[in-house]
Amino acid sequence: MDKETLLRLEFAKGLARDLGRFAKSKINSLSWIKTKSGFYDVVTNVDVEVEKRLKSAVLKAFPQDSILGEETGTNEAANSDALLWIVDPIDGTTNFSKGVPHSCVSIAIVENGKSKIGVVYDPFMDEMFEAVKSNGALLNGEEIHVSKSSELEKSVLNTGYQYSAVSMRKKVLSDYKAFFGKVRALRIFGSAVLDLCYVACGRIDGFWEYELKPWDMAAGALLVKEAGGVVVDLLSEEFSIHSKSILATSSTLLPEMVKVLKS
Ligand code: IPD
Ligand code: CA
Ligand code: CA
Repeated sequence: MDKETLLRLEFAKGLARDLGRFAKSKINSLSWIKTKSGFYDVVTNVDVEVEKRLKSAVLKAFPQDSILGEETGTNEAANSDALLWIVDPIDGTTNFSKGVPHSCVSIAIVENGKSKIGVVYDPFMDEMFEAVKSNGALLNGEEIHVSKSSELEKSVLNTGYQYSAVSMRKKVLSDYKAFFGKVRALRIFGSAVLDLCYVACGRIDGFWEYELKPWDMAAGALLVKEAGGVVVDLLSEEFSIHSKSILATSSTLLPEMVKVLKS
């Protein structure tokens, strides 16, 4: 790994750990919770505070880089040729806003539209997931791999409570129904980023969701690929961080999951 990549990786891990711990310390004393659209998409003062701190720390350390965050968009001087940090200050905000300890800080560093570094920190489990393109994936410093599952009936799958795209609601329900009774269990944990990390370390055999955003997928998708898994877009040819759908699993379970999702 080159020096510049290592520098950014270590910096991203330090930031994710510090800000994740800060968020954890505030989970039971939120100043405000607001909805961004409808009655579902929530944001808290901690999401905004963490993102502001992330942005200013990144731009201070790497002024030549650009940064895109869920809550505040891109920095003013964003440059399309620069390395782009894509951050989700808290993924799993609905959990967080209810005091449920399952959320994380997610940081991806993207070069020419492709994730180069992915760092995800879950402060409640003290778990640091990290991946660098072509260098494998780690959980708390140990190598991780996707599960070897190839049979739906022995698999535990995860999806999201997709609510924002009204047009997709029927599809989400029909997918859920299609898997129901065919798999060992279906879960909706409420953090797409951690769902991807759980696929990467084999805790979950497969995950799919629609209408996620780049900050929900850029770090986790790299983790899955670097852990030996596959990430595909169910609606178009090739997966990108801008895809409108994601399916992440092992190459052995992929055909089974695709069969159900496309049926
Ligand atoms: C959400 C979570 C959730 C997923 C939603 C996302 P947020 O992100 O990842 O699991 O189902 O689609 O928007 O709002 O908690 O950062
Ligand atoms: Ca998110
Ligand atoms: Ca978020």
